[in-house]
Amino acid sequence: MSLEDVTREKWATRIGFILAAVGSAVGLGNIWRFPFQVGQEGGAAFLVIYLLFVGLIGIPAMLVEFVVGRRSERNPINAFDRLGHGEWRFVGALGVFTGFVILAFYSVVAGWVTRYTFASLTGAYFGEPSVYFNSIAEGPAAIGFHALFMVATAVIVAAGIQRGIELAVKVMVPALLALLVGLIGYAFTLEGAAEGYQYYLSPEIGVIASNWMSILPAAAGQAFFTLSLGMGVMITYASYLGEDRNLAVDGGWIAALNTLVSILAGLVVFPVLFTIGVEPGSGGAGELFVGVGGAIAQVPGSRLVGFVFFGVVVIAALSSAISILEVLVSYAIDNYGMERKKATAVISSVVFLVGIPTAIDLDVLNLYDQITASLLLPLGVFLTVVFVGWVYPDSAEEVAKGTSKGSDGTLPTAWLWYIRIPILLVVGLVLVISAIDLYG
Ligand code: PHE
Ligand code: NA
Repeated sequence: MSLEDVTREKWATRIGFILAAVGSAVGLGNIWRFPFQVGQEGGAAFLVIYLLFVGLIGIPAMLVEFVVGRRSERNPINAFDRLGHGEWRFVGALGVFTGFVILAFYSVVAGWVTRYTFASLTGAYFGEPSVYFNSIAEGPAAIGFHALFMVATAVIVAAGIQRGIELAVKVMVPALLALLVGLIGYAFTLEGAAEGYQYYLSPEIGVIASNWMSILPAAAGQAFFTLSLGMGVMITYASYLGEDRNLAVDGGWIAALNTLVSILAGLVVFPVLFTIGVEPGSGGAGELFVGVGGAIAQVPGSRLVGFVFFGVVVIAALSSAISILEVLVSYAIDNYGMERKKATAVISSVVFLVGIPTAIDLDVLNLYDQITASLLLPLGVFLTVVFVGWVYPDSAEEVAKGTSKGSDGTLPTAWLWYIRIPILLVVGLVLVISAIDLYG
């Protein structure tokens, strides 16, 4: 009997699924990548477009992945076979590849955060946050912390206890929110707070109009990255779902909580940057460490606050990294009959090696990040939406059923046409712009 014949395990509770999906979504994308993108794309103008992307495209795209997973009860590659369209397997394969590349540099960034957790205890970065960041971001120590984080991720996945992350998420998310709120309270008292809020929250239409060619792909990439879309994670998690869930409600909760964490992170970072006189965007990938690190250095009990804050972010990063590695490992198990421990060891070693160049050179890290977020994730989302909208439209109705609550049934048609045309047009435009940017 092949593994495919075994009845798929199911989430024990509805909240189990939501917690795991939130664990995947909430991570470095919110705390590290979001403020850095806002800074690079000029502040509030980016925020507006990003929020529109999450609401109008991210949530529907998440529902599309849920449907593929729940219907097929398969990993993201076999899902397409199971739905009778084996020729679409390449979409699942693309997602698995993208996850592989994301995990490689995600682990390096998580390594920085791990380092900051310990460095908080000695106050190593309190004096000159940006000098400290530059001293640890590249080189042998960065490789070492990358290795440490990858081992931690692999141990959890190898033991097969990642479904136990539910508890970690229950603790991590409230802790993260509480810490951010506390730091926001401190940032509010700073001299540069007003300027920071202005920059972050008060959009100028002119900026959107003149920079949309760069804002649009950045916002799309951030929305997909942060919601864990475009690489099969949500397909995988939904493959363990029972039939009786309202996917739209679950997706809405996951997106809302994830967005809240990002917005709060920005409310800490920007007041601090304006206060210490660092121009947003100039810190690049180090924005968070300079911004939040600078704030932590000033608050009472900074060593403990820093240790707890970065420690919680490591846990958030771990639950996201686990979700990516699990997709890769379960594919190796399902399709090659590999044993879980062996699959995990082999895959995580290769991911580690592929991540090394990004631990040596920040430019390489930015390149991996750019290619995955602005090109590969939107491509994965685009193709999955084409599949559900045009090739397998039955499944699109499935989401609508859960949302229409016995109404006259107008929603299914509206929903179907919404994913068929407007979403594909916008994501298609993003792909064209990104392709020109990267290769033009
Ligand atoms: N969503 C995660 C974050 O914001 C990162 C991630 C991307 C996780 C893709 C899984 C898949 O940190
Ligand atoms: Na996220």
